[in-house]
Amino acid sequence: MQDITAFIEQMPKAELHMHIEGVLEPELKLQMAARNGIDLPHDSVDDPAAMYDFDDLPTFLDARYEGDTVLITETDFYDLGMAYYSTVVHENLVYAEIFFDPQAHTTRGVEFSTVIEGLHRAQVDAEQQLGIESHLIMCFLRDLSAESAHEALEQAAPYRDWIIGVGLDSDEHRNPPAKFADVFAAAAAEGYRLTMHCDVDQENSVTHIWQAIDDIGVERIDHGVNALDERALIREFASRRIGQTVCPISNRYVVGESRSRDIKQMLDEGMRPTVNSDDPAYFRGYMNDNLAVAQRDGDLSAEEVGQLMRNAFAMSWTTDSRKRAHLAALDDYLAASTGVDGD
Ligand code: HPA
Ligand code: ZN
Repeated sequence: MQDITAFIEQMPKAELHMHIEGVLEPELKLQMAARNGIDLPHDSVDDPAAMYDFDDLPTFLDARYEGDTVLITETDFYDLGMAYYSTVVHENLVYAEIFFDPQAHTTRGVEFSTVIEGLHRAQVDAEQQLGIESHLIMCFLRDLSAESAHEALEQAAPYRDWIIGVGLDSDEHRNPPAKFADVFAAAAAEGYRLTMHCDVDQENSVTHIWQAIDDIGVERIDHGVNALDERALIREFASRRIGQTVCPISNRYVVGESRSRDIKQMLDEGMRPTVNSDDPAYFRGYMNDNLAVAQRDGDLSAEEVGQLMRNAFAMSWTTDSRKRAHLAALDDYLAASTGVDGD
């Protein structure tokens, strides 16, 4: 009988909701601050772990944007990317769709080209050296203006082939999807795939989710847990096969519980949940930990954990042939893992 922890650890994995700026571990932040001559608040340096102390979305975002200030050069973005890949390769992660926030950097005077060239170089090396396939999703910061999002889209134009889709993140409060309808329409016209955060338990969560799926036409919702709040939304997600990228450990920090029973309900309702790490350095957990929390808190069977991973590969935005190959490898793994002990 195989132990469920080993089953999770050895499973080939994909994640679709991970912010590359969120892999900045405290030690790496200090190193980059030192080499770039950035002065961090005194207590940060004395107690690196205390830098990552927050209990809701706004306080998390404050910590995240402070962390971003150490990212200056192309090498910083390359090193940030490689820090992620060299960690998750040990978790058997083979595929990632990775968010990046260009406006968090261009508003500080860092060029768009610096950000994307460093990240892209890391992607190429990760594929060649570690066998990890990844794609970039450019997120607009929803607490900035729609005009600023349009500027980011223009800056991305020379790198169109390096960016698979666009998303929307940062503080949702008073920043509904509708604010960005035009820029998402422009992105769709240029062939970008569409996703968008609808964070957990926001003011007007349900309205925002309807706007995202009906007015904007996204293929998936990042988080999207509150789709369970309305029967009509549950039916819509199930019938239109809209994906949900749930982040259990992030939820613990931001809303005080992992919401893994909700993942179980999504599966039971025929919706399409996945499990993801969001900002793993800040939330102190990569994919293995997130899957373990979802399994434990949600009381999920091995089959259900396998289904979550099948959802991730199936709704990924890679080519059909690569998708088939990833799914076949996962199915081989799941078929060989009979009799997993969940107790
Ligand atoms: N929600 C909103 N903004 C974010 C997140 C998130 O999960 N992670 C990084 N920026
Ligand atoms: Zn996120």
